[in-house]
Amino acid sequence: MASFESRFTAYCASLETVGRRRRLTLAAEAMPGRQIVADFSHNDYLGLAAAPELIAASHVAALRYGVGATGSRLLSGNLPLHVELEAAIARAKGTEAALIFNSGYQANSSALAALLDAKVLDAQPLVFSDRLNHASLHHACQLMNVHQIRYRHNDLAHLRELLEAHQHEERPKFIVAETVFGMDGDAIDMAAMAALADEFDVFLYLDEAHATGVMGTHGYGLTSGHMQHDKQSRGVAMGTFSKALGASGAYIACSTAVRDYLVNRCTGFIYSTALSPAVIGAVQAGWERLPQMDAERARLMQTAQSLRERVHALGFDTGNSSTHIVPLIVGTEAAALDLKAWLLEHGIVSSAIRPPTVPPHTARIRIALSVTHGETQINALVDALAAWKNRAQR
Ligand SMILES: Cc1ncc(COP(=O)(O)O)c(C=O)c1O
Repeated sequence: MASFESRFTAYCASLETVGRRRRLTLAAEAMPGRQIVADFSHNDYLGLAAAPELIAASHVAALRYGVGATGSRLLSGNLPLHVELEAAIARAKGTEAALIFNSGYQANSSALAALLDAKVLDAQPLVFSDRLNHASLHHACQLMNVHQIRYRHNDLAHLRELLEAHQHEERPKFIVAETVFGMDGDAIDMAAMAALADEFDVFLYLDEAHATGVMGTHGYGLTSGHMQHDKQSRGVAMGTFSKALGASGAYIACSTAVRDYLVNRCTGFIYSTALSPAVIGAVQAGWERLPQMDAERARLMQTAQSLRERVHALGFDTGNSSTHIVPLIVGTEAAALDLKAWLLEHGIVSSAIRPPTVPPHTARIRIALSVTHGETQINALVDALAAWKNRAQR
């Protein structure tokens, strides 16, 4: 066994030398004796993870159905809660149906893989992917041996060029993208994306992990109302309950035909225990609350805009961020780790994001804003960033 262990150890050690080794730490452990002033590392964008209303709904659901679903949906685990939540999601998204998954990663890696099945499609599909798509989307393509045609990040003119170049190939075509990019905080032009799908007869697979709760009508995401056109489905929208909804799990909003296909073909759905009633209870309460949170969403976007202006004045690069996710792109892994440590010393928790999660030379601190962040937290962040810049210039 020793040789196995030593290989795994050597792999981790090799990451150390390039500043890419990951470690699990607890924020409080990382700074013993120090008070945390602000935490910008989580994705609880609407502060719903600790909302009493969601906790109470979770409790009610667990008391009624138990803490676990006890089986896969096709065996013992199909509860009224799942069916009701799917109906609410389909209504909100303007699709015929929806299907719940246990996590966003599971939804993407297994549902997208199922949709790309060459045997079912009668041909190997062509997949046009944004260069900065989430790892779970790449995973699905890798599983299905699909060669992705990557377009420049969020560049729909480039996507169009590539679609034109492959226009005469008689193969099923897919566009795979996020609607709000998790590491960059920029958003797609949904109307333009829908128009491209119609013009080139392409199936859309859009990931709303970071848009759900925050963007679009009533916070139901940018794809809401765009996935059906003239009674035709344009593809599927995937979203997560793990970010702004403060819980865990995910959904695919789609046509009834796609839902039926996934129930019969998607291994990540078929062979996995259904999402816990306690989680579904909380998600239902959060989903119903989203339409009443317009004021919170507007405040979140104002906070983000004001933060961008303040950090630009300090000389930080925030890329194309236009949402509640504000990257501070510092370039090297070492600079990102140094800034993360500096912020921590000032009581601020943040995430250093390094290649391969982001492209080389674009290591960054990812600031994820939440409605729980007030002026005190934002001022503390900006002050610490200013001090870091000053130190660098000395
Ligand atoms: C764009 C995107 N899709 C999918 C996921 C996976 O979602 P989950 O955390 O629910 O597995 C994430 C989470 O990091 C994400 O950022």
